[in-house]
Amino acid sequence: MTDEKSMNRAISGGIIWLTGLSGSGKSTIATHLCKTLIQANLKVEILDGDQIRSWLSPGLGFSKADRDLNVQRVGMVANLLSRNGVLVIVAMISPYREIRNQLKATTHNFIEIFINAPLEVCEVRDIKGLYAQARAGNIQGFTGVSDPYEIPLEPDLICHTADETIAESVSKILQMLSKMNLIPSLQA
Ligand code: ADX
Repeated sequence: MTDEKSMNRAISGGIIWLTGLSGSGKSTIATHLCKTLIQANLKVEILDGDQIRSWLSPGLGFSKADRDLNVQRVGMVANLLSRNGVLVIVAMISPYREIRNQLKATTHNFIEIFINAPLEVCEVRDIKGLYAQARAGNIQGFTGVSDPYEIPLEPDLICHTADETIAESVSKILQMLSKMNLIPSLQA
């Protein structure tokens, strides 16, 4: 495919929304996916929950109302980018189904991807040590431990990160985006 064609195909933009438990692999997949899309000269941005919270929602905590507001804000930023031709990769726990469905219904090319790793696996990984803190009672309302995570009922794609390699998960996403004509055919 020529450069001109690949640029044209990316003009529609899209929101690649990665939802799942802390430690499920959202940020890792987002980083690898982003790298591949950048190498293909596509316009791409990552909005990662951990980083974006500190500047977009510094006053918000982890109550349902605060999480929903946080998700809604990130969804609005993602929509502004998406409708201007950018592929936006969002990596957020985004634990509540209703607000995710609301975004799906109201934003430009919202694609819901469930980054699905069992809680036990995320807990063993415990990359940030937060599950241990939550089990010890030092963090209240921690998703999966003492706060709900509502799994997507009809996601566009599921990545089983306990059973797939990162490259396999990224490949699945690339294939889906290509089938949707949002990107040219690419290898992870
Ligand atoms: S969301 O629920 O509002 O979508 P978001 O993805 O922005 O969450 O942030 C999640 C990150 O915040 C986690 O990866 C973890 O590092 C940190 N965190 C701190 N407290 C909590 C908590 N109570 N529940 C979940 N994550 C928490």
